[in-house]
This record gives sequence, structure tokens and C-alpha cells, in this order.
Amino acid sequence: MKKLTFRRLAFILVGLVAGILSVASIDSLSAREKQVVELPLGLDPFKVPADNPLTKAKIELGKQLYFDKRLSSDNTVSCASCHDPNKGWSNDAAFATGVDGQMGGRSAPTIINSAYFPLQFWDGRAKGLEGQALGPIANPIEMNLPIEKAIEKLNEIPGYKQQFKKVFRSEITADGIAKAIASFERTVLSGNAPYDKFKAGDESALSPEAKRGMDLFFNKAKCSACHKGHSFTDLAFHNIGVGYDKDKPDPGRFAVTNQEGDRGRFKTPPLRDIHTSPPYMHDGSVKTLKEVVEFYNKGGIKNAQLDEDMKPLKLTEQEVADLVTFMKEGLKSENYPHVDPPELP
Ligand code: HEC
Ligand code: HEC
Repeated sequence: MKKLTFRRLAFILVGLVAGILSVASIDSLSAREKQVVELPLGLDPFKVPADNPLTKAKIELGKQLYFDKRLSSDNTVSCASCHDPNKGWSNDAAFATGVDGQMGGRSAPTIINSAYFPLQFWDGRAKGLEGQALGPIANPIEMNLPIEKAIEKLNEIPGYKQQFKKVFRSEITADGIAKAIASFERTVLSGNAPYDKFKAGDESALSPEAKRGMDLFFNKAKCSACHKGHSFTDLAFHNIGVGYDKDKPDPGRFAVTNQEGDRGRFKTPPLRDIHTSPPYMHDGSVKTLKEVVEFYNKGGIKNAQLDEDMKPLKLTEQEVADLVTFMKEGLKSENYPHVDPPELP
């Protein structure tokens, strides 16, 4: 009896220590991970799942998979086709086009700073980057390649087999593909913009127009009610009325939660380097940043679930221009996360 209690106690202790360790390792980047990714000025550390630590070799593998069109059924589409580094890690179409020219009903969001999002997609239906990465490969209107087929195809490429051995000490697996791509995505970061320099004390970092725009953003125009924090998103879902001028508005978050209040709600998108990824909104219906601000100036589009922060703003033409300047100049990173396509194995 005595022995049993001791063993039990030991189990509890081991469990506790393991629990503390795993929480500590996802809390922020470990010292070793900090050597792999450098956080730009203005960004907070992000969480990395305890079972997917960032390493150089894994990021490199993820980058290759991200750019590899062989992950699609007809070898024509890669992640980068729709989330193109040269187009703000998005693309310039309202709706993304997958294999055989098939089109979905939503625009491709940027990958920039997606390391910070606990929920992925406009409606938040996927958990984390690992939970998202395999979706588009198998999705019939995106890359249309069942994961077992993708694994079969990769297995014929010795360079990939070797890298999976080295990085995961395993064969090529779906889990490994997701972890490698997610790790690469975590390195696509935008910070170090004039806004960050201004906040760090450099008064001359922002032009007078951008400064006025910043003041409007955080006060009169109330943008920061939703676009807050270091990546300018509250990571929450709101209804601002986009699509309510159409016949069948996209249900947005409602499709995931079935809560009537979530109808027409979409994830607040981040705004860093936002000038690089037009058109805007989940349906790509707004072409320029000026039109975005004019949309808000009118109070969005009326509907039963319109967010209470959406009211006509009464901004003058000059104020509209200043807000645009704040986004274009103030949030433009001095080290835009440019990545060239890697050599593929
Ligand atoms: C055919 C175009 C297309 C391809 C190819 C594609 N995506 Fe996407 N991606 C989209 C669209 C459209 C959405 C938004 C869908 C939605 O919200 O319902 C999206 C959403 C995402 C998101 C969520 C971002 C956020 O802010 O919520 C991530 C991350 C992502 N894709 C990564 C990838 C990866 C990794 C690949 C390759 C394995 C990939 N995508 C391939 C079009 C594409
Ligand atoms: C009530 C919350 C809320 C407020 C207030 C708000 N936004 Fe938004 N913003 C959102 C949401 C949600 C979306 C995505 C909506 C959609 O696609 O249906 C969005 C989209 C955007 C986009 C497009 C981003 C992209 O990648 O397509 C820009 C730019 C933007 N907002 C800027 C602003 C500015 C500037 C203000 C202030 C004038 C503002 N927002 C006020 C929640 C808000």
C-alpha cells in the first residue's frame, strides 16, 4: 500500500513537471528558435506548438514544399500560386484560382504574420497553421491532390525522402508535411515599419500626413476597435457588412459556429504591408485602400448583425487621404518578407 502511494506521488510529480515544461516551451520562442527567426521591431514573440519546434532544416523543407507545384494534381499550382511573395503573400484576384481554372468564393488572405493566428481562414475554421496546411493540397478546387497521393509523389523524389529522414527521423508523412509548411510560414513576418520607429521614439519616422492618419486610426475613425495590437488585428470575428449588397451574402463565421450572431462575421485581417495585397475583403470586392476607408466612412453596409462599432465616421476628404497614407507609408515594412522560390529537389 505504502509503495503504491509513493508511485502515485511520483507519477503526479512527473506529470506536473512535464506539464510545466510543455507550457513553458510554447509560451514564446526558445533561445535556440530565436537564433532561427529574428523578430522584426514592433512584433511580440509568438507561440510555437511544443511538438513542432522551429529548426533551420525544417523551415528549408517547408519552403520547398510551399513552392512545389508537384503538390497539385496536374503540377500547375503551389501554395505560392495563391499566396505569392511578390503579391503581398496573397494574389491580385478577387477569388483564388486553383487547378483546371476552378474558382472558390473567397479571396486568398495574406500569409504575413499568420504565425500569430490561433484560428485560420476568414471564418476561423482551422486551428493553427499545422491544422490548415494540408487542407488546400486535398481541396478539389485548390490543388486537388489527396494526401496519400501527395505522399506517394513525394516518395519518388529522393531529395524529399532524405530531408524527412533528417528533419523528422521518419518516412514522409502527412503530419511532417503540415509541420514543415507551418514552420516556413512562421518565418513570414512583417514589422519594422515607420510606425514602429515612431513608437520607439523616432519622431521623424512618420510624415505629417501619416501622423494625422495614425491619430485618426486610433481615435476618430475607431479602426483600432478591431485592428489592434502589433499586427493590427484583435484575432476576433466581426460583421462590417461586406457582401450584404449581394444576393446571397457569405455566412462567414456562422458556418462554423451555427450561432445567428456570427452571421456575416469574418476574421479581422492584419494590416502590416497591406498596400501590397489588393483587392481587399473576403470577397475581394474593394479595390484600393482609399475605397476601403470610404466604405468605413459610410458606416459599412447595413444588416441585422452589423457590428456596433460600425457607424458613419464623417471623415473629410483630407482625413480619408491621411488614413490611407498612414496605412501605405506607416505600416510599410522596411524589410518586406521577400522570399525567392528555392531550388527544388
Ligand atoms: C487556389 C488558391 C489557393 C492555394 C493553391 C492555396 N491557398 Fe491558402 N487560401 C486560399 C483561400 C481562398 C483562402 C481563404 C479561404 C477561406 O477563408 O475560406 C486561403 C487561406 C489560407 C490560410 C489562412 C490565412 C488566414 O489569415 O486565415 C493559410 C495559412 C493558407 N491559405 C496557406 C496555404 C498553404 C500552406 C497552401 C499550400 C499547401 C495554400 N494555402 C494553397 C487560396 C489558396
Ligand atoms: C468592427 C471591427 C472593425 C473596424 C472598426 C474596422 N475594421 Fe477593418 N476589417 C474588419 C474585418 C472583420 C475585416 C474583413 C471583413 C471582410 O472581409 O468581410 C476588415 C478588413 C479591412 C481591410 C482589408 C484587409 C484585407 O486584407 O483584405 C482593411 C484595409 C481595413 N479593414 C482597414 C480598416 C480601417 C482603416 C478602419 C478604420 C477606418 C477599419 N478597418 C475599421 C474589422 C474592422
